[in-house]
Amino acid sequence: MMATGSADTDQARPVLVTGGAGFIGANFVLDWFGAEPSPVVTLDKLTYAGNLNNLVGLQGNPRHTFVRGDICDADLVRALIARVKPRAILNFAAESHVDRSIHGPEDFITTNIAGTFRLLEAAREYWLDLPAPEREHFRFLHVSTDEVYGSLTPTCAPFSETNRYMPNSPYSASKAASDHLVRAWHHTYGLPTLITNCSNNYGPYQFPEKLIPLVIDRALNGQPLPIYGDGQQVRDWLYVGDHCSAIRRVLAAGAVGETYNIGGNNEKANLEVVKTICAILDGLRPRADGRPYAEQITFVKDRPGHDRRYAIDADKIRRDLNWTPSETFETGIAKTVDWYLNNSDWIANVTSGAYRDWVQKQYA
Ligand code: NAD
Ligand code: DAU
Repeated sequence: MMATGSADTDQARPVLVTGGAGFIGANFVLDWFGAEPSPVVTLDKLTYAGNLNNLVGLQGNPRHTFVRGDICDADLVRALIARVKPRAILNFAAESHVDRSIHGPEDFITTNIAGTFRLLEAAREYWLDLPAPEREHFRFLHVSTDEVYGSLTPTCAPFSETNRYMPNSPYSASKAASDHLVRAWHHTYGLPTLITNCSNNYGPYQFPEKLIPLVIDRALNGQPLPIYGDGQQVRDWLYVGDHCSAIRRVLAAGAVGETYNIGGNNEKANLEVVKTICAILDGLRPRADGRPYAEQITFVKDRPGHDRRYAIDADKIRRDLNWTPSETFETGIAKTVDWYLNNSDWIANVTSGAYRDWVQKQYA
């Protein structure tokens, strides 16, 4: 329990958000200011997936500071934490795309494993030196994924926090390793950690290498909509705003050392997701020739080691922290398509240069 009297001072101290210029991190930082009093310091390396345009709405906000830097850089991280004196560190920074991890796993090992290790060590050093009340309130929240649990058959129960870790891709193996490090830093050193494992996010500012923004962008450009394999792989779709509110809830009330699964209760096969997007676009932005966007759907070679089904049992966070998602897939996907239609400049900005090289390599 937070000691009365120190709560106000505590809330005035900043939180440090790593990876806050990426998709979920940026949504989190933007949402934070509508919900919480603490200032935010965002640390981001600005890889191809990080984009300062995502945070443009915070320009001139005295409660937000952006720092460009790498979580693998131990000296930088240590000095930044000493200067900022955060009440919490939230680690979103990661290499996040499964297909890229198959083409080139090294960056995933470096950032997701070594980077998390460096951050944990810097956090531990800082936390140990804090005065007692601040040390008690400090939290290290690590954002992770349901992919660490492996793949479900159609009849398996959804992933709960006690499922075995069985990662199948270089990406999910690197995230699993980072979760294990966080767990060990709590059990061995007592660092007050929290881990969240969530399902597939979608919403504004998602880099168009991921299925939903990729399909919206390609549909509007008259390009084929690539469906891997038979398109019957299932994901449990979570609107990014719901993910952000769940993380705030875990930070505020989660039990130290615990893991919380976060899901949207929205299991859908990929083909159904793509057809839904096509139908929304048919209504909002009909093709010039009047034909349905679904005609652009093309079945392509499957992803190696493609996980068949993910689904989250989000009972623990509902029961213990009273959190449930607000969006259904129908409301979330309508908002999302609308956002991409109204933010064509954002898409145009991120789909140049390096993005074109990636698409050429992946879909040629
Ligand atoms: P993203 O790829 O859109 O953004 C990642 C951000 O991290 C970028 O801004 C990038 O510049 C930054 N970054 C990368 N390497 C860095 C480094 N070494 N130092 C500092 N910054 C670095 O990813 P996302 O989809 O926003 O995912 C955020 C987190 O959520 C990740 O940890 C991911 O594993 C996890 N996650 C994502 C999803 C999803 O559906 N997108 C689902 C579950 C969990
Ligand atoms: O489950 C959480 C994970 O969700 C996160 O940890 C990852 O960071 C995030 O990238 C996401 O992983 P997926 O591999 O599930 O997401 P992606 O958008 O790449 O693919 C979603 C599904 O769509 C998957 O079954 C593969 C399929 N797909 C994807 C692309 C890019 C296609 O059929 N065609 C495509 O072109």
